[in-house]
Amino acid sequence: MSMKLNVSIGHIQFQNPVTIASGTFGYISKYAKSADIQKLGAFIPKTITLAAREGNPSPRIVETASGMINAIGIENDGLDHFLAHKLPDLAKLKIPLIVSVSAYQHNDFETLVTRLSQEESVSLIELNLSCPNLKHARLIAQDPAATQEVVAALKKISAKPLIAKLSPNVTDIAAVAFAAQEAGADAVSLVNTFSAMAVDVHRRRPVLGNVTGGLSGPAIKPIALKMVYDVKKRVTIPIIAMGGIMTAEDALEFLIVGATMVAVGTANFVDPQTPLRVLQGIKAYMKQHRVSDIHDIIGSLRTS
Ligand SMILES: Cc1cc2nc3c(=O)[nH]c(=O)nc-3n(C[C@H](O)[C@H](O)[C@H](O)COP(=O)(O)O)c2cc1C
Repeated sequence: MSMKLNVSIGHIQFQNPVTIASGTFGYISKYAKSADIQKLGAFIPKTITLAAREGNPSPRIVETASGMINAIGIENDGLDHFLAHKLPDLAKLKIPLIVSVSAYQHNDFETLVTRLSQEESVSLIELNLSCPNLKHARLIAQDPAATQEVVAALKKISAKPLIAKLSPNVTDIAAVAFAAQEAGADAVSLVNTFSAMAVDVHRRRPVLGNVTGGLSGPAIKPIALKMVYDVKKRVTIPIIAMGGIMTAEDALEFLIVGATMVAVGTANFVDPQTPLRVLQGIKAYMKQHRVSDIHDIIGSLRTS
């Protein structure tokens, strides 16, 4: 049985809908030569900022029931280092490369998007909007108006399709997704991590150096799924879904509620082969259910 797994965002085609969640697979270098990565739909390295950032004090990660809390703080070596030392390896990949960027100032976002727009090997740019909105003392992605403003400004200067990555730490994520779509985003990705913390009861101190962090992994999957369901009802642009995907069945749940692509995050810390296993499992499901085109699964949820 021939199977069509290809999906698209803007004019970019992906051979299948499975990718990596930013920050959970490093910058690839040691995996670049691995043929296996080339089997995925796309690759996305860790978020970069314009200037290098040291990140948060340690400890930065704590395991929780069915998940983990991280407070890495977007540690990275900055755009210039990324272009000189990471992109050459990433450019060898034959699958689309999505570069994730974040900024604490509008100008920095503009510089990142302008410079990455000039790179042939970059297929799409993901805007990690879980960064403080200095004007309103909230994250950009917690404010539909700020999301619209930032995405619209960057859309004007971007030569690449833009993905707006949304925060789940909001009352109405669909409103923020809609604002991103209205501003011209080519896709939305959700969810980033949920605000969380852990306490060391013996020391009566927070476990994380940053006091709070973001929860990810299987613990968040049902909530992330509901958010994708809500967003799908509100937008027509493609959704890249993530949040606790460990198995093909998890990924299929997100596809059925309407995600065009799925990203594997925390599961990579358990086993970096998870995205490939998820892909194999989706193929097996299609065979079992005699589905020849992935589009017959996407958004196929029946509620009555
Ligand atoms: C250790 C760690 C680092 C992360 N770093 C980033 C990052 O740099 N940029 C980003 O947009 N999301 C980052 N995330 C969030 C993931 O991309 C993803 O949105 C979230 O973890 C939910 O998916 P999951 O439950 O499959 O991990 C990070 C998550 C973890 C666990």
